[in-house]
Amino acid sequence: MHHVNTVSALRQHLSTARLNGHSIGFVPTMGALHQGHLNLVERAKTECDIVVCSIFVNPTQFNNPDDLARYPRTLDEDSALLETVGTDVIFSPSVTEMYPEPATLRFDFGNLETVMEGASRPGHFNGVGLVVSKLFHMVQPDRAYFGQKDLQQVAVIRRLVRDLSFPLELIRCDTVREADGLAMSSRNRLLSAEERTQAPMLFDALTLAKNMLLDEYTPEQAQAAVRDYIAHQPAFTLDYIEVVNTDSLQPIIELQAPGQTALCLAAQLGKVRLIDNIVF
Ligand code: PAF
Repeated sequence: MHHVNTVSALRQHLSTARLNGHSIGFVPTMGALHQGHLNLVERAKTECDIVVCSIFVNPTQFNNPDDLARYPRTLDEDSALLETVGTDVIFSPSVTEMYPEPATLRFDFGNLETVMEGASRPGHFNGVGLVVSKLFHMVQPDRAYFGQKDLQQVAVIRRLVRDLSFPLELIRCDTVREADGLAMSSRNRLLSAEERTQAPMLFDALTLAKNMLLDEYTPEQAQAAVRDYIAHQPAFTLDYIEVVNTDSLQPIIELQAPGQTALCLAAQLGKVRLIDNIVF
């Protein structure tokens, strides 16, 4: 496994791989890795000759400085985990390597960013668009792998790939869950022991809403049931519960074709903001 910190070392290493005709799979992360990330690497290993994983806590996508300061940083642990799944290259640049000058470029993802995470975290998707574009230029992958847990991020990056003609295939992989249903997330490490026992209630709420929709309740009724359920859990503050089309992310009033309906929610649990979704 090669571990590089600079763009020039990364480019040099990958140009040799490319000259040898090797395809490149890319898994961008912010570290604090869990099985969800490792599944992305494992999937990439089956589809590409070389797998690159980046670890970079990207300051431009945090709209809350405390959230950025608190974000877990566990590079040694992450490297050891990546080695176990056969990662070929780790790219872990510094902030100045990624942003030698403050970036001023602005993206507009239209109605994809006026809802849910975009509405609650102004500037977040601009930062994601910026860093992912830079990473795509640096790695030049044939395929890039993202987890469904960040469904809105996947939709935004799909548009980025389309509008900027990045020559790569974007692959969305299923959310990986703990045995009690909690979606794996780097932020789960920030939960207290008590909060960790409460956190799976978000998946329970999504499951409740999904079953209601399948029983022909309206999205509005399903959303009301989730609001009511969460309101009875004093540890949580619900940010949103939306029933949307998986591609447009716009609210829907009836079930879509199979695989096109998504229930998405975000809630605050103590100091930790959790998001989750179910696609069906
Ligand atoms: O999903 C993440 O971990 C980040 O948003 C990403 C895609 C690595 C960009 O910083």
